[in-house]
Amino acid sequence: MLLAATVAMGSVGAAYVATPFVLSMDPSAKAKAAGAPIDVDISKLEPGQLMTVEWRGKPVWVLRRNEQMLKTLPELDPLLRDPNSDELSQQPAYAKNPHRSINPEFMVMIGICTHLGCSPTYRPEFAPPDLGPDWKGGFFCPCHGSTYDLAGRVYKGVPAPSNLVVPPYHFVSATRLLVGVDPEAV
Ligand code: FES
Repeated sequence: MLLAATVAMGSVGAAYVATPFVLSMDPSAKAKAAGAPIDVDISKLEPGQLMTVEWRGKPVWVLRRNEQMLKTLPELDPLLRDPNSDELSQQPAYAKNPHRSINPEFMVMIGICTHLGCSPTYRPEFAPPDLGPDWKGGFFCPCHGSTYDLAGRVYKGVPAPSNLVVPPYHFVSATRLLVGVDPEAV
């Protein structure tokens, strides 16, 4: 299953090359670095697979959740610090729902731990030895052990204080989304 969870770079993945190329950026690359929306092709994303793109210098994850993943989400509510996404700063209004997304199948999330900013690891497997028998898939932060479910909701009793942040985004089509723009702004 870990193999199936291969992290793939999106259409803007080259932005990860970072600082040395800033001076030689073309105008569109400069716009992206300054915060312009990014166009993400999700046509090749398989169920259970996560891809990472970059927006405003931050990793943004797009996870195509499978049926089992979606079924598990409500079962985890009692274990989570903010299961209903009541902390409104962590997501746009259109992602304040049980799956924290526009389309339940696709999770779009900023991949930065809300504790001290490390990037958590995608851990979709059930009950791996290091995460215990109750683990039903989610994200694990290796820095200080914070854990999140597959909607980016933080578990109780970990250092991270809040759910992962959902960026503004919308679907341009069934297989393309724009990260950085709210639906109502289009
Ligand atoms: S930065 Fe993630 S747990 Fe501390």
